Amino acid sequence: MLKGKHILLGITGSIAAYKSAVLCRLLVTAGAEVRVVMTPLAKQFITPLTMATVSQHPILVDFFNPENGEWNSHVKLGEWADLYLIAPATANTMAKMATGVADNLLLTSYLSARCPVAVAPAMDLDMYAHVATQRNMEQLRKDGVHIVEPGSGFLASGLVGKGRMAEPEQILEAVKAILAEKKKSLEGKHFLVTAGATIEPIDPVRFISNHSSGKMGYAVAEALAARGARVTLISGRTSLDVPQGVERVDVLSAEDMWRECVERFAASDGAVMCAAVADYTPATVAEQKLKKGDSDMRIELRRTKDIAATLGAEKGGRVLGGFAMETENEQQNAQGKLERKNFDFIVLNSLRTEGAGFRGDTNVVTLIDRECQEELPLMSKREVAERIVDKIENFL
Ligand code: C5P
Repeated sequence: MLKGKHILLGITGSIAAYKSAVLCRLLVTAGAEVRVVMTPLAKQFITPLTMATVSQHPILVDFFNPENGEWNSHVKLGEWADLYLIAPATANTMAKMATGVADNLLLTSYLSARCPVAVAPAMDLDMYAHVATQRNMEQLRKDGVHIVEPGSGFLASGLVGKGRMAEPEQILEAVKAILAEKKKSLEGKHFLVTAGATIEPIDPVRFISNHSSGKMGYAVAEALAARGARVTLISGRTSLDVPQGVERVDVLSAEDMWRECVERFAASDGAVMCAAVADYTPATVAEQKLKKGDSDMRIELRRTKDIAATLGAEKGGRVLGGFAMETENEQQNAQGKLERKNFDFIVLNSLRTEGAGFRGDTNVVTLIDRECQEELPLMSKREVAERIVDKIENFL
């Protein structure tokens, strides 16, 4: 269930931090990769050594290492995480979160997090019941933070009441539910995705095509479907299996792909154009296999229709994204495409970087829209797809 999920576990200065080790172990056992960030005070309650051992990674506390100046980038942590879980969360930390105070790494990571955030409060009953704490929690709820309600029972103060951090098993269940919920955020939406290479026939046996594997487009289709969207994948030739829950329409030529897209676009909520569409196609297709002669041969090519530009012209309120693969003036050319095709965003593939490009499972991209541009590090195509789908959600 949590296999491959990145969970950032924040620990604040509460006696309930002793349960964080068990919680971390449960998350790791469920398949998650866990990184731990602690407030300076949290180290008094549970040792970094314990948390580093159970999470299998060094823990993070400071903005930088004073010995060598190495930064612990809260931005990178915020990008990396699929879920930021702060357990235990003290009244103090929740108050700071509610007002945007950012005076430690745990809090700056909160402000940088793009993923769902959950807190498991832990404090004494009177602190929990205090109007200020309740007001801050209400603010956090409004800000979209999930609150794993504390339980009632024996408290460290000796009092009995509400304020005990939820048990690790309950927090694990809440984590699973939140991640499943995120997945369904596109329920009721319908997207078209184009993928793979088109095939432009020359004669019954020969064709013009390209090296596209279709992996990026299939990953986008899969990521959209995983969040509950209905997805129609209009696919050129690939050797990939249809992702779970996706409807595939097989096409060969750019003309076929154009027709299938145009027919469906009006009834959709948007499209992501990942296909490597031929720009030129043979002007005529020979009915019989062309015979070789002694002299050279010329094939006359004519321009294909630009599918993205056609959809762009009819876009209305739909979301439209595409890809650019450039070898020179990358940014400028990508910006030009964004305008010409009326894309909301464009994903610029770097061809210069190792790990990017056609057949591999990884990619290095820059996400560009009219407001901003964001260079992403080397990621799996599936992770890039998640980021693209996050972007689509923002546009919706
Ligand atoms: O113009 P260029 O081919 O570089 O633009 C790339 C983007 O446009 C990609 O998103 C690609 O899927 C889309 N495209 C298209 N129809 C074409 C050519 C490109 O949809 N005929």
